[in-house]
Amino acid sequence: MRFDTVIKNGTVVTATDTYASDIGIAGGKIAAIAQSLAAENAGKVIDAAGLLVMPGGIDVHTHLDMPFGGTTSSDDFQTGTIAAAHGGTTTLIDFAIQYKGQTLRQAFEGWMKKAEGKAVTDYAFHCIITELGDAHLEEMGQLVREGVSSFKLFMAYPGVFMLDDATIFRAMSQAAKYGGLICMHAENGGVIDVIVQRALAEGKRAPKYHALTRPTTAEAEATARAIALAEMAGAPVYIVHLSCNDALEKVREARDRGLPAYAETCPQYLFLSIDNFDVPGFEGAKYVFTPPLREKWHQEKLWQGLAKDTLQVVSTDHCPFCYKEQKELGKDDFTKIPNGGPGIEHRLSLVYTGGVHGKRFSANRFVQLVSTAPAKLFGLYPHKGTVAVGSDADLVLFDANEEQVISAKTHHMRVDYSMFEGIRVKGAAKTVLSRGRAIIENGKFVGRPGAGQFVRRQGYSGA
Ligand code: URP
Ligand code: ZN
Ligand code: ZN
Repeated sequence: MRFDTVIKNGTVVTATDTYASDIGIAGGKIAAIAQSLAAENAGKVIDAAGLLVMPGGIDVHTHLDMPFGGTTSSDDFQTGTIAAAHGGTTTLIDFAIQYKGQTLRQAFEGWMKKAEGKAVTDYAFHCIITELGDAHLEEMGQLVREGVSSFKLFMAYPGVFMLDDATIFRAMSQAAKYGGLICMHAENGGVIDVIVQRALAEGKRAPKYHALTRPTTAEAEATARAIALAEMAGAPVYIVHLSCNDALEKVREARDRGLPAYAETCPQYLFLSIDNFDVPGFEGAKYVFTPPLREKWHQEKLWQGLAKDTLQVVSTDHCPFCYKEQKELGKDDFTKIPNGGPGIEHRLSLVYTGGVHGKRFSANRFVQLVSTAPAKLFGLYPHKGTVAVGSDADLVLFDANEEQVISAKTHHMRVDYSMFEGIRVKGAAKTVLSRGRAIIENGKFVGRPGAGQFVRRQGYSGA
């Protein structure tokens, strides 16, 4: 057999196995996996000696080119996917927002236009629902059939995104009927709003009050409510950006009862804490995102949640705003700081460092968390999320021992600071393939904007 590319001498790591093997690629797919493949006739040979060969990372929570908080997230689908590729992510699922008065289809088409011609990696969409009449309910089924098989709902941001319980219940029931998965932003937005207004009335305006006005109990209450609503609707539910032990306990209880409740956390909740607000002046604005940073002790609880499968996924919630001019919109009032932080580039390095080098879980569990479980939950598996004959050749050649210090000076995201500035990580993507084409080679971007494809996802069928 003639291969377009042969990867030789690597160590393949999947969610279940680790073994030495060559990989043959043809037509953008993995065509052969064998201990030794002949490379004479291959179009290209990549030597992966000393490297781990893993399925490309799948980041199921990004906000590229998203209008929010009076501005627009600073990475678009070109700069954002290039940064993702540098970090070993080959597929992302972004959020198409239904603005008030719009159909769900308009939301989807609007975001397709943002990505087309720009993305260097494959991409898919969840749809954020902000209004749900009878016609929208019908559209949910149509969208699932067209590959947009998950929907994000908000229990926070009153007046902007927040939905009431009845609407959430309707959406969940419809998702259950059509094979959709509801992704929930679980925070009690009504209570938070009262606490925020009290803080402002007391003259508390600095960035840290964003965190101090969003208690862990507000996240735990909403997480429990989301799970209860899903149970009544007979629907699975996926809690996004889970940040604290209180909410984790609610997911654990639900899973112990056998409910299809899932949750992700993000590197910022694993590596940063409320102590990050102890910086001069307005710099705390760099850490204003939602849910907020918590006390440090929550970090280890989240790591243990990842190790024990209470949490199934690590995503980034990448939502970058430059410190200058964007975060500064809230200079005199923390409620005006655009919520979000940049993270699309360093997810694999951070999770490998804290998880595998930190001896909290194996390299196989790492692959499960950053690629395989996201693929299974969000209808991408087995095309993506594993190394198997017939799967897309989305592959990361990962040097588990390369060290780097994260810095805005060297990152590729279009944002003027790093949340993880100065953190030393061990583990880096060296070469990255998307559908068999190299997009990163020895750390350099060699892909092409527009080469990334929209991926139609299947409906939810379990983890
Ligand atoms: O602060 C955040 N997380 N911004 C992005 C929107 C969201 O709620 O995920
Ligand atoms: Zn959210
Ligand atoms: Zn988000």
